[in-house]
Amino acid sequence: MSDIEQAPPGVDITVPSPARMYDYILGGTANYEVDRKAAEAVRAQMPELEDAAWANRGFLQRSVRWIAERGVRQFIDIGAGLPTMNNTHDAAQAVAPDARILYADNDPLVKMHANELLAGSSGTAFITADFRDPEGLLGHGDTLATIDFAEPVALLAVALTHFVPDEDDPWGLIRRYMDRLAPGSYLALSSLTSDRQVDQAVGNLREVYSRASANAHPRTRSEIERFFTGLEIVPPYDGAEADLTYVGVWGAEDPDAADSDGSRWGYCAVARKTE
Ligand SMILES: C[S@@+](CC[C@H](N)C(=O)[O-])C[C@H]1O[C@@H](n2cnc3c(N)ncnc32)[C@H](O)[C@@H]1O
Repeated sequence: MSDIEQAPPGVDITVPSPARMYDYILGGTANYEVDRKAAEAVRAQMPELEDAAWANRGFLQRSVRWIAERGVRQFIDIGAGLPTMNNTHDAAQAVAPDARILYADNDPLVKMHANELLAGSSGTAFITADFRDPEGLLGHGDTLATIDFAEPVALLAVALTHFVPDEDDPWGLIRRYMDRLAPGSYLALSSLTSDRQVDQAVGNLREVYSRASANAHPRTRSEIERFFTGLEIVPPYDGAEADLTYVGVWGAEDPDAADSDGSRWGYCAVARKTE
């Protein structure tokens, strides 16, 4: 996206946006100079930045496919972002063409991009909504038109909760979403972690995002595990214990090969609501 172009209404191109930075890291074009500079400032202390983003993307795609293969036909993807290909509806509808997907994000540019991306697709809707407002998001007319709450739903919070500070209780928010969903629903969640990372790289990442439209809050494994309280975590790959794992490893055919430095920046799990 050229900076000579005028910013679309409501889009602030003087402050980096996590959605646009992520788009840039993944090789997209829906970003501005301010986003590219911020992403490069993160990369300066975190050379595996691109690998980390792709490892997280892989978790999203593999977990959606896995959940669709278990018969779930409805997905709520919060913090959907801007990626131009292999999104949730592509992965879900490759398994089940009748799968329905409600996308939500609070970044205004994501909505514009989603309008283009979803034109011509069926079973999808996008709403501009904030994760911190479960009632507003779940009660939105487009949500109610897309999702049947009497049937199981997969809630996707992939690389989202680390943009929500402890004070806003992201754990309680996830619980409120899951409470609304029918038994047999799933949670797929990944989060940035500071475990085993060099303090300087984590500090630099926090500092760069402190100048963005949302701060980053990398969490420990046990803090991320708390998101799954009351749910039944599934094994991340054949032969593994039911547990959290690094993002690149979840659902990998060769978990050893997928255990890259970038992958270790994120923990994830998929868990089932049993009752
Ligand atoms: C790193 S991207 C992740 C995109 C996608 N889920 C993935 O993992 O590939 C994080 C997304 O979360 C969105 N986001 C951050 N805070 C949010 C909030 N409070 N409500 C809704 N979306 C939010 C950002 O705008 C951004 O698009």
